[in-house]
Parts: sequence; structure tokens; C-alpha cells
Amino acid sequence: MELSKRIQAMQESPIRKLVPLAEQAKKKGLSVIHMNIGQPDVKTPKAFKQAINAFDVDVIAYSFSQGEPALLMAIADYYQKSGIAFAPEDILVTNGGSEALIFAIYATCDAGDEILIPEPFYTNYNGFSKPANVQAVPITTKSEEAFCLPKKEEIESLITERTKAILFSNPGNPTGAVYTQEELMMLADIAKKHDLYLIADEVYREFVYDGLSFTSMASIPGVEDRVVIVDSISKRFSACGARIGSLASKNQVLIASVLKLCQARLCVPTLEQVGAIELYKLGLDYFQEVKEEYDWRRNIVYEGVNQIAGAMCKKPRGAFYVVVDLPVEDADDFARWMLADFSYEGATLMVAPAAGFYATKGLGANQIRLAYVLEEDQLRRGLKVLEEALKAYPARKA
Ligand SMILES: Cc1ncc(COP(=O)(O)O)c(C=O)c1O
Repeated sequence: MELSKRIQAMQESPIRKLVPLAEQAKKKGLSVIHMNIGQPDVKTPKAFKQAINAFDVDVIAYSFSQGEPALLMAIADYYQKSGIAFAPEDILVTNGGSEALIFAIYATCDAGDEILIPEPFYTNYNGFSKPANVQAVPITTKSEEAFCLPKKEEIESLITERTKAILFSNPGNPTGAVYTQEELMMLADIAKKHDLYLIADEVYREFVYDGLSFTSMASIPGVEDRVVIVDSISKRFSACGARIGSLASKNQVLIASVLKLCQARLCVPTLEQVGAIELYKLGLDYFQEVKEEYDWRRNIVYEGVNQIAGAMCKKPRGAFYVVVDLPVEDADDFARWMLADFSYEGATLMVAPAAGFYATKGLGANQIRLAYVLEEDQLRRGLKVLEEALKAYPARKA
């Protein structure tokens, strides 16, 4: 019996595919420093659990398909405070940002259609478009240009009659790039000219550094009906396991259409929604301390990486990832070798090989993505392991 072509065509997650090797390293008694995954160590605000503990009902009933009304209100209120004009009826609660992405792709593309995505990109953009038989067409961005968008003509040259949308994360995972208002206006112009949707994944909206102010795609005028915003509490409130996300758009036909998908999967877990309401009520002040912590960690990783002979990264400006160029031909092999054959003072390091974040074959072969979601000591230890591993790696380039 053969499995579907669609499932066979899916790639493994570069973030998680090395887990078996990490598990074996742990069995050998090594401590594995996880810089491969964006699982923050920041404590989930207590308000989340308190709300769930206080939720005293006899039956955990299905919730509304569009989400709990109080959560829709709380998200709309958070958007207003963030300068983004969404009303509760513009929003649908989803099972994480992941489901919002799947729904956005289903709602905007048919099988055989194409989506333009700046690469390197969050690997699941491929993971979600492939099974929908939608082709992810990369807009290549480069580490030496700090992953800025290329010129308008270059992007337009990739558009065919099958192109339906431009999908991007801003701030960027894995790049840490934060798009300027000009870049967003360029995307808006392209979308208007070629009749495209703009799917903006803004799950890292609060995490921008260097005094930059974040511009949401939803606040660019003239494309309100084309914009779909993907959001999540996973990183925003360090609540990855709660699986609460949302999709928002001013396009009421799109929202009514996505609601059909929401109805088909019935609802999002009731208890987590009860917790999420309180998170969204925290107010924007909550982010100040968290942001300062990530900024501090960003500087440690940026400086640490650039002190390692042969390693190089540009300073990321948002989210909590950085793409690092290494003096190796095959970063995938290097990452496996670190877990299977290397340790330094009882520890080894898990990273995400960056090739999996590119759709263009051959790109990113010498790169890894590091996530700076661990506390300072762990980050410094991880960087030391990286430095020593590069010295010891038999296939290191001269
Ligand atoms: C850019 C981006 N979008 C979406 C997601 C999915 O997040 P969620 O946990 O909300 O499904 C992630 C998770 O790492 C991400 O980095």
C-alpha cells in the first residue's frame, strides 16, 4: 500500500528532526543545550492558570467555533491598544498560529496555486502548503543584506497567473528581520497590482529591538480586504502548549469562509481559551520586561557568535532567532555530529540546520538557526560548546 504523494512530499521539521539524536545524547548522560527550538523559558503569567483554576463548571462543553466571545473581545482590545483596528467579528480563535496558517492557505489557494514567501522562512509554511498542493515559491533574501526584501521588480518577476498570496513572518523566523513601513507598502502595491492576498504572520509582534517601532501589515492603508493576520499566544505570553492562536481580517467574506473550516474542527479547547482571556487582558506593559530580557540575550548571542573563529551573524532586529554562517560545507552533518560524537564539559548543543528553512535547493547548507530563548548561563555554555565543536569538527573548512 502506498501512502499519499502529498504526505511523502512533506519534509521533516529541521527544528525537530534531530530529536532522536538528542535523546541518545541524554541517555549517554550528556546535558543537551536546546538552541534549536523557539520554546521560551520565560514563565507563563500566573493569570493563565489562575483563570483555569477558578473556572468551575460541571461540563467542559464545546466552545463556539469562532472562539469564546470574551476571548474575541480581549484580543480585539489588545489589537486596539497595539494600534491595529480589529473588532471581535474580524477575529477567529484557532488552535495556535499553526491552524491560522493552515486556514489562511486553504481559504486563499486552490491545489496547484502558488504562494510567494521570503526565504529563509518558518519551515512549516512549506509543511502546511505542501499537503494543500500549494507551491511555496521563494523570494530569496540574504544574510549579508540582513534578510531585507529584494527590489519590487525581483519579487514581481516571480508572479505567475497561479500566484494567490504573499506569506511572510514579521518579525522574521528564522531571520530576525523586521520589515520597514516602506517594505510593507511595497508588498501592498504588489498585492494590489497583481490581486494577491497578504498573509502576515505577526506572532512575534512585540519582540523588536534597537528602539524600532513595529508596523503591522494590518495598518497599511488600501489593502485592508487583502490582509490576513496570523497571531498566537505561544511566544507572546510564553504559552506554547496552550495552543491558542487567531486569524484576523477586515475581509468579512474571508472570515465567514474560514469560519466553515472552524466549524468543521468544532472548536478550540475551552479551558485554554479561559486562560488566554486573562493573558490578553495583561496590557502592553507586560512586554517591557520580557523584551528587555530577549534583547539582553540577543546581544549575548550576537557578540558570542561573532567571536567564534569562522562563525558570523548579522544582528537580528526582532523575534528571538538568528541565522549563523558556519565554516562548514554541511551544517546538517555538523549538527548531527555535535549530538552524536561531540561533547564539551558534559554538554552538547542542539541547533536547527538552516537548509530546511529554504525552498531553494543548496541555500543555507552552511547555516544554522539559533534560538535565544534560554537564560544567560545556558546561552554562554551553548556558545562555548559551538566554539569547541567547530575546532574539533573533522570536516571544518580551513
Ligand atoms: C513564525 C511562526 N509562525 C507560527 C508559529 C506557530 O506557532 P503556534 O505555536 O502558535 O502554532 C511559529 C512557531 O514557532 C512561528 O515561529
